[in-house]
Amino acid sequence: MSIVVTGGAGFIGANFLLDWFRSQDETIINVDKLTYAGNLENLASLQGDARHQFVRGDIGDSTLMTRLLAQHTPRAVINFAAESHVDRSIHGPEEFIQTNIVGTFRLLEAVRQYWDGLSAADRVLFRFLHVSTDEVYGSLELDDPAFTEDRRYEPNSPYSASKAASDHLVRAYHHTYGLPVLTTNCSNNYGPFQFPEKLIPLVIHNALAGKPLPVYGDGQQVRDWLYVGDHCRAIQRILEIGRVGETYNIGGGSQRVNLNVVHTLCRELDEFQPRSDGKSYQEQIAFVKDRPGHDRRYAIDATKIDRQLGWKPAETFESGMQKTVRWYLDNQPWVQNVTSGTYRSWVEKHYCA
Ligand code: NAD
Ligand code: TYD
Repeated sequence: MSIVVTGGAGFIGANFLLDWFRSQDETIINVDKLTYAGNLENLASLQGDARHQFVRGDIGDSTLMTRLLAQHTPRAVINFAAESHVDRSIHGPEEFIQTNIVGTFRLLEAVRQYWDGLSAADRVLFRFLHVSTDEVYGSLELDDPAFTEDRRYEPNSPYSASKAASDHLVRAYHHTYGLPVLTTNCSNNYGPFQFPEKLIPLVIHNALAGKPLPVYGDGQQVRDWLYVGDHCRAIQRILEIGRVGETYNIGGGSQRVNLNVVHTLCRELDEFQPRSDGKSYQEQIAFVKDRPGHDRRYAIDATKIDRQLGWKPAETFESGMQKTVRWYLDNQPWVQNVTSGTYRSWVEKHYCA
């Protein structure tokens, strides 16, 4: 038995693979394009492990995906591959449309044809799990109830609009062709191996480098933070016992305003690695121009996954943040490679020679 995972060299995909192999031996075929966000160093501990088969490739490459599915006959496909950073989508939306919409469409087509050719028994067991985001629901007012699965889609950024489009395609492939799909809409993740363009790793990196800690606008935007390991456990649970055709919201129950997140990180760093001048890292906070169309608040109502599948996050915001800060302090060579671009030279040498 095997499963195909796309985007497994990125932040959440890599954490998923590492968690998976801690508890099981089923082979994973990991298809990743290795964009700037894909980094095989995240999977260094799997080197030489036959359970992990890496293929550099694009989910939008129909020939490749068709061949891989025929060759490995997986029982499931989990689609993590995406362009994932809101700020990049504002500056250059094209790649978001190509990968998140066109790429997901082509992947669905390849999977549908593969699934059509399976035996009746295998067709029933097969799953296509699409990993999406809470950002498809748009922005909440401070006193609005948290997002439930039946909330209307109101995406506001090119990123969230492209993810919303991909979710609709996945839904349509279930309703039209009967493909056994599952969709997850998760809140903001944090933890090991997150590229330092996202708030939490960026603040840790800039703090240690003596650079400003950029807080957009008034810093009062709210996100619902989830430790990445909890997200990975939720995906495993949904893959195994989720109800076909359904969507599941996944969240940490940890709503925090951005400024509070930055203050927490500064406090952790003040304790674990104090500044040489004895001052707090908070001195480095700099309020900068706001992101255009910045969503004010996201919050997840995770009642459904709790009641139906018995999933709850294991980490609190405090325990998860402490683990994360420790990880970045203990893995400075990884951060240096990512921020200096050294990992890119490795990719070029191995794949573009
Ligand atoms: P990431 O940007 O860290 O990783 C994305 C991975 O996909 C990279 O390894 C990249 O090389 C790969 N990729 C990009 N385009 C590809 C293509 N065309 N073909 C094959 N591989 C491609 O993203 P992440 O934070 O790990 O997010 C993974 C998924 O989870 C995304 O679908 C994202 O929308 C979703 N999500 C992320 C968060 C979050 O907080 N990070 C929250 C909810 C949902
Ligand atoms: P981010 O990590 O980019 O995730 P998302 O935009 O998908 O929620 O940003 C989290 C929040 O932090 C968001 O409200 C934007 C804000 N932010 C800053 O204030 N400064 C920064 O440098 C970054 C990257 C984000």
